Amino acid sequence: GVDMSDYTTIKVSTDGRVGTITLNRPEALNALNLTLMGEVVAAMEAFDADTGIGAIVLTGSAKAFAAGADIKEMSAKSHADVVNEDMISHWDRLIGVRTPKVAAVSGYALGGGCELAMMCDLVVAAESAKFGQPETNLGIIPGLGGTQRLTRAVGKAVAMDLVLTDRMLSAEEAASYGLVSRVVPTDDLLTAAADVAAKIAAKSLPVVYAAKESVDRAFETTLREGLMFERRAFHACFAFEDRAEGMAAFVEKRKPEFKNR
Ligand code: CAA
Repeated sequence: GVDMSDYTTIKVSTDGRVGTITLNRPEALNALNLTLMGEVVAAMEAFDADTGIGAIVLTGSAKAFAAGADIKEMSAKSHADVVNEDMISHWDRLIGVRTPKVAAVSGYALGGGCELAMMCDLVVAAESAKFGQPETNLGIIPGLGGTQRLTRAVGKAVAMDLVLTDRMLSAEEAASYGLVSRVVPTDDLLTAAADVAAKIAAKSLPVVYAAKESVDRAFETTLREGLMFERRAFHACFAFEDRAEGMAAFVEKRKPEFKNR
């Protein structure tokens, strides 16, 4: 593992069961260079391995969540370079992070920044947030899910508009199209995202995993298979002692004390 104090492009902190990763390259509006990618992935995996952490907040600065992949770093690369290093593929390790990830987006979430937010399980947006996929301006296309996750989130019409033009969505538009779950006043962003994360982190971890995996199934399979996956995961919850505790607490009109967290 990487020592938390060794990170140069992110800041990492914890508060109770919530871990927070703050992108910290203010000089480049948090552009996602190789170092930052490695550090975010390492920090995410470290939180995921820590059962004391039940949810992760990923955020940037007031001006930018992230303005995309680092264009200066990319500009010198050849076709062979990007193929040989399988550029961007390291981000796929975030898919293996089971702890729920809450993106807290203020300012620009462009290109890889928008895609990174979409790799999180839910997105809380400040009123200042702006989402876009302007890659075609640079002679490239999105490479971290912008044509796939965005289309699944907002549908073809809006995804085509963002990917083929440099249109940016406001926070309100992003919420109305289904890209973000909540819009909050800009000054309240971190508190709101931490509240969402703390709510998740207070629940039984294996139950949270089952819920998250079932929702994610909706994007991977047919309705019939997805419903069967959900039904079996639902049945399996009855094996958890936290299921008995959750129901007993309701009947006894008290707060549940989940053990498996
Ligand atoms: N890569 C590298 N540096 C970046 C950057 C990026 N994506 N975005 C901003 N910066 C740098 C700028 O070069 C500038 O640095 P200097 O002061 O050294 O010149 C600094 O951050 C501040 O940026 P601006 O002066 O441009 O700030 P602004 O307020 O005038 O504009 C902006 C803000 C509209 C976000 C503008 O910076 C911008 O258009 N950035 C690029 C957005 C973009 O094209 N993103 C897609 C990248 S490709 C990608 O992400 C591929 C993929 O799918 C993974």
